[in-house]
Amino acid sequence: MFSPTPLLPLASLVTSVYSATLNVSTTGGNASSPLLYGLMFEDINNSGDGGIHGQLLKNNGFQGDTPGLTAYASVGGTSLSQDATVNLTTAIQSSLEVFVPSNTTASVGFSNSGYAGVPVNAGTYANYFYIKGNYSGTVTLQLVGSTSGTVFASHDVTVSSTSAAWTYVETSFTASQSPDGDNVWQLLFDGSKVAGSSLWFDLVQLFPETYHGRFNGIRNDVGEFLEAIGGSFLRFPGGNNLEGGSPSTRWKWNETIGPVENRPGRQGDWNYPNTDALGLMEYLQWCDDMSLTPVLAIWSGLSLGGGIISGTALTPYVDDALNELEFLLGSTSTTYGALRASYGHPAPYTIPYIEIGNEDNVYSGCSTYASRFTAFYNAIHAAYPSIQIIASTSDASCLPSPLPSGVWTDIHHYESPSSFVSLFNEFDNYPRTTGYGIFVGEYANTKTDSGTQLVWSNASAISEAVYMIGLERNSDLVKLASYAPLLEHFGLATWSPDLVGLSSAPNSLTGSVSYYIQKLFSSARGDTIRAVSADVDFGPLYWVASSTAGGEWFVKVANYGTGAQSVTVRIPGAGGLGGTAALLVLSGSEGASNGPGDVEVLPVGSTVVGSAEAGWTFDVPAYGVAVFTASPA
Ligand SMILES: *[C@@H]1O[C@H](CO)[C@@H](O)[C@H](O)[C@H]1NC(C)=O
Ligand SMILES: *[C@@H]1O[C@H](CO)[C@@H](O)[C@H](O)[C@H]1NC(C)=O
Ligand SMILES: *[C@@H]1O[C@H](CO)[C@@H](O)[C@H](O)[C@H]1NC(C)=O
Ligand SMILES: *[C@@H]1O[C@H](CO)[C@@H](O)[C@H](O)[C@H]1NC(C)=O
Ligand SMILES: *[C@@H]1O[C@H](CO)[C@@H](O)[C@H](O)[C@H]1NC(C)=O
Ligand SMILES: *[C@@H]1O[C@H](CO)[C@@H](O)[C@H](O)[C@H]1NC(C)=O
Ligand SMILES: *[C@@H]1O[C@H](CO)[C@@H](O)[C@H](O)[C@H]1NC(C)=O
Ligand SMILES: *[C@@H]1O[C@H](CO)[C@@H](O)[C@H](O)[C@H]1NC(C)=O
Repeated sequence: MFSPTPLLPLASLVTSVYSATLNVSTTGGNASSPLLYGLMFEDINNSGDGGIHGQLLKNNGFQGDTPGLTAYASVGGTSLSQDATVNLTTAIQSSLEVFVPSNTTASVGFSNSGYAGVPVNAGTYANYFYIKGNYSGTVTLQLVGSTSGTVFASHDVTVSSTSAAWTYVETSFTASQSPDGDNVWQLLFDGSKVAGSSLWFDLVQLFPETYHGRFNGIRNDVGEFLEAIGGSFLRFPGGNNLEGGSPSTRWKWNETIGPVENRPGRQGDWNYPNTDALGLMEYLQWCDDMSLTPVLAIWSGLSLGGGIISGTALTPYVDDALNELEFLLGSTSTTYGALRASYGHPAPYTIPYIEIGNEDNVYSGCSTYASRFTAFYNAIHAAYPSIQIIASTSDASCLPSPLPSGVWTDIHHYESPSSFVSLFNEFDNYPRTTGYGIFVGEYANTKTDSGTQLVWSNASAISEAVYMIGLERNSDLVKLASYAPLLEHFGLATWSPDLVGLSSAPNSLTGSVSYYIQKLFSSARGDTIRAVSADVDFGPLYWVASSTAGGEWFVKVANYGTGAQSVTVRIPGAGGLGGTAALLVLSGSEGASNGPGDVEVLPVGSTVVGSAEAGWTFDVPAYGVAVFTASPA
């Protein structure tokens, strides 16, 4: 890319040394995809359990391959063990045995340290647990600083439990604010009443306030933070986590529904157990509550470990997908529609988009994907012709030839900044075929130009904005695009970067630079992409213009360069615009990033005065993104 040397490099006197005029056309243009920007979710790096899902206690159902006593500790001299002979249900096969030594007189019990600590904030907590064994008396539930010993909540419930059956206890209490995330939840009882014997506990659950107050819901703070992005769709439940380490450990829709007591959970693909408390119906409730259109992924026969089921062996899995769709879409007179109704959702859901698999071009999936895709496509398309089907790869060598008319394809990009910049025009000359569309199902700037993995996004994420401008310019073709992954627990992540991070500490919820770029782009969307004529070529400045039927005009500009740029936007012929336009500018100097409690790179709002004919002039800083909005006066 050629950048002219300024004649007067007086950086101290001028804020920008380069300039560009963008003339936005008020005629013609292409309709843009109304769903273009959205969210992609899978449980990775504890983004589900320990992340967005409200339940804060870890290993509460002894799920996954090797649960043991993970997260539990004795309080007051009890002996704890995972007891596989005393089970809660067929799904929850173990419980916690708490043995109380015979000479015990004090209040004793056990603690759970949550997902790298229990977040304790001033507010209300719902607490549920099962108890078995002879005990009549007080049970005390507490939130306590692990190091400080400070008690932030202490709540007594009276329990009458026998050894004959499980007793369910549900209660709630308020907590005061903890200064950090170094907390445990603990359950105490009168040890003198149990001395020399044991009590059993299972499925301990602790929830802070949930989004929209839902039972077994997602965290309210995380829900609101994601809602603020303004995305249009949610792709779920994966991602690789759909696939399983082997076909038998794939994500199974029918084991993620109904009471959590009936969900066995599984060893997820990312080396930790998934409780599946965030299950199929919870995903759809998340969609409903956040006004997101579901993009549902269906297992396609490929597992991450390389196990592939194809040919006639695939038939039961195709049938299983049809059962899933009957569960979601069938009337209450169908077997699975009736099951849905019994779980409290008689109305069918709306499932406009289904993706067949995930990344079937890798893990040796390519050679069988055309036939696997076709088996699912034929069955689903015949039963539900209006559902938009998406193939999990855009690699033609893995796809049926010809691709059935109307099918869309997915493409993923984890790139360096310079690759994203060079992918700006990826779709400019892509073939346009009626009915065909692209889903950029995962993308993120994950490494530097020299290949070093990024731990957390910094200003090099401006390169994502350059790429997104390319997507938006081609959003007649590119229908959906989602950054991935969405969320990480800072203390538990090894895949980085992610869009949002949190830990158990107060106010730890942090938007990466990429988060703010997603928010900027999602929140300023036109229905028509307009042609722009400019007096400079693309690079290091990139732009896209759009307008709404209501007469709003948006111009997004990204500057992936080391010098500020002065930009003049003209919209000649656009009548009725106010002289004052709104500007949101995000920029980060080299090395700038966002950390918990220290968010440096975020959009800053201002106004700019001008006119449609003469234009509005503003600066786009180095490593900067600007979103310009002109509205009717
Ligand atoms: C509209 O789409 C066509 C490709 O079908 C493209 O050549 C043209 O540049 C697009 N127009 C705008 C304004 O983006
Ligand atoms: C995080 O995700 C990566 C996959 O990129 C995986 O290797 C790692 O085990 C995960 N870590 C945790 C704690 O979930
Ligand atoms: C415990 O699991 C067995 C199957 O392993 C099941 O038959 C039994 O009903 C379960 N117990 C309870 C209380 O659900
Ligand atoms: C119970 O007995 C054990 C061993 O005899 C002793 O170490 C322990 O301190 C006693 N605990 C109490 C609470 O008396
Ligand atoms: C629990 O109490 C019942 C009724 O008093 C008694 O039959 C049973 O043996 C007790 N169980 C244990 C484990 O002590
Ligand atoms: C889920 O569906 C599979 C395939 O139809 C079936 O084998 C399995 O028993 C089902 N599991 C539950 C819990 O219903
Ligand atoms: C923008 O429009 C103005 C006025 O019509 C014209 O003078 C100028 O050459 C145009 N610039 C570009 C790059 O099209
Ligand atoms: C982003 O971080 C990487 C790794 O620390 C660093 O090499 C790179 O220079 C940074 N880029 C920007 C634009 O800040």
